This record gives sequence, structure tokens and C-alpha cells, in this order.
Amino acid sequence: MISFYDTSTLPTQDMLDAIASAPLGDDVYGLDPTVNELEAAAAALMGKEAAVLMPSGTMANLAAVLSWTHPADEIVLEAEAHLLYYEAGGISGVAGCVPLGVPGDRGVLRAEEVERHLRGPDMHYPVTRLLCVENTHNRAGGTITPVTVMKELRELCDAHQLALHVDGARIFNAAIALDIPAAELVADADSVFFALSKGLSAPVGAVLAGSDEFVGRARRARKMLGGGMRQAGIIAAAGLVALRTGIDRLREDHEQARSLAAKLAALPGLLVTPAETNFVMIDTAGWGIGAGELVAELEAWGIAASSRPPSTVRFVTHRLIGDAEADALVAALQEIRGRCARPRRR
Ligand SMILES: Cc1ncc(COP(=O)(O)O)c(C=O)c1O
Repeated sequence: MISFYDTSTLPTQDMLDAIASAPLGDDVYGLDPTVNELEAAAAALMGKEAAVLMPSGTMANLAAVLSWTHPADEIVLEAEAHLLYYEAGGISGVAGCVPLGVPGDRGVLRAEEVERHLRGPDMHYPVTRLLCVENTHNRAGGTITPVTVMKELRELCDAHQLALHVDGARIFNAAIALDIPAAELVADADSVFFALSKGLSAPVGAVLAGSDEFVGRARRARKMLGGGMRQAGIIAAAGLVALRTGIDRLREDHEQARSLAAKLAALPGLLVTPAETNFVMIDTAGWGIGAGELVAELEAWGIAASSRPPSTVRFVTHRLIGDAEADALVAALQEIRGRCARPRRR
């Protein structure tokens, strides 16, 4: 199967070797040296005081929400944020918070628009406590929130006493595309998580970073959620290799995405969104075929991609997608298009 999901990346041999030889201890007591090394490295990369290893990005986001809010507080999110769409309602079901979805510009929240939606202090309203930014933005197609926008949002948060959290599952993709250190991109945020899996290729894990005080609260939240792990150095060992070898390599994924987008744009009738990072989005409406139908057809070709009904299909490039895999996708789409173009028998 050729998978155009960056969540399907497999660990490198270096990661497997590092896992096999990692010094381990009981991380719930802070005694796993490999986890401690990873957390220190991650905090430094994010320019924050401290960091904590999480089993998943979903738990990292939820722990951040629990650490910044009280039940019945309001959280401001981009209307199609991963936190709203794909995290099983944890912000409400577990943290007891009320989401306020604000439409972004291709996933990028603008301070003016957020300001228009804020209702101000009034005993009828929930207390607005937190603003979340997703960088890069998944549903919008790997789009980047740049430093200038982060600064605007910081000012807004200061004016309204909001904490600013970055869902940075793919923050290194954004930083690499902008050619700046990730720390610069999240300097205005109070907390940020990034994924070790996905493009960085580690098999599991995420890291949540912020001030010492925030990370102390996040450790408690992680424990409450059942995310305190014992010899978690086996996860951290792969994570350390990911940080050492995976970040710069993301450039290759971006180049591959641009090249794939150009090949797909050459297919008549297909609308292709230019790739800002490692996502290529196509619109299938011109072929008279729905996103779900196209993804099912691709599956028969041994190709996995994600559908965004009614007519958007998402392809994400990663370490295991080279020219051969991209060309296999183009060939499959050419064939499928040929069938779509033929008049269907009644
Ligand atoms: C933007 C974003 N945030 C959070 C997550 C959640 O990460 P995980 O799958 O590790 O829970 C994802 C996963 O794809 C994501 O794309």
C-alpha cells in the first residue's frame, strides 16, 4: 500500500537501534534519562523553559486545554481546527469547555476576526480563557500561520487575558518552509505541542512545551488522562533521533509535494491547491466524482489518501513518498479520469 498519510511513516533503522540501546527508568518519577534528554532537547528547540513527553498529539492538546482552563470556560479555535474536528470532543467531554469556532483565512486565524467574535465579560457568557492556533493547519491543507500573524494574535490575547496555545503537530514543516527556527515561530505562544510521529517519522509520541509552571500542570493533566508512562525512554529514544535527523529532511517532503502538485495540475479538469508545505489538496468536482468515491477507487490501486467530502482529496508527502510513489498516484488518477470522462451506460 502506498500511503499518502504522514501518520503512516515507519521508524528508521537508527530509531530502532536507539530504542534497543536506550537507558531506561520510571518516567512517572522523572527517572528515565532518555525521556529527560528528549524533554530538554524539545524545550530548547521550542525556546520554552520545559517540556513533557505525551503519548499522542490529542493528549498533548487536551492536557494543554486542561492546564489553561476551568470547566465552563470558552476556548477560541479556528472553525476547522483539529481540536474541534478530530479529537473526539475531549475539550468539552473531558475539559468541560465551550468551543468558539472562528473562521480563518485558509486555516489562518486573524486577530481582527477573532476580536469580532469575542463577546467580552458578562455574567451570561462563559469566561474566554484560551486561543488555539493550528500551525500548519491540517484541514486547510498544511497552511502556515506566519510570525507576523502570531504577533497580532499575541497582542489580542494580552488585551483579553487569554493564553495562546499552538497545536504544532507539524510546526517544523511551517518553520522549515519559512526558513526560520521553530522557536521563533512559537515565541509568542504560551504553550506548543509538536508530533514526533508524522513527518519526523518516530513511531509514537508528541511533546508539549511551555513555562516550568505550565508544564508542571500539564504533567498532572497527563497523569489524570492515564498518560503517565513508565519506561517511556523507548519512545523518547526514537524521538531524539527524529529531532536529530528528521527536521531538515522535511524540505524533501515539501519539494515532493510541489512536484506532485505540478504533475496533478497537468491532469485536465482537476483543481489543485499549490502546496505550502507537505499537503497537496485536489478538488474532484470537475471530474464528476465525489471525494469518497475517488478515495475508494485509489484504494483498489493500493493507494491510501484522505477524503474531505464533498469533493476534496488530501495527499500528504513524507519520508516514504518518492518519485515512484508520486508517479504511481498520477498514473492511477489518469486511468480513473479516463473512466470518468467516458459516458456512463444507463
Ligand atoms: C493538526 C493536528 N493536531 C493534532 C493531531 C493529533 O495527533 P495524534 O494523532 O498524535 O493524536 C493531529 C493528527 O493528525 C493533527 O494533524
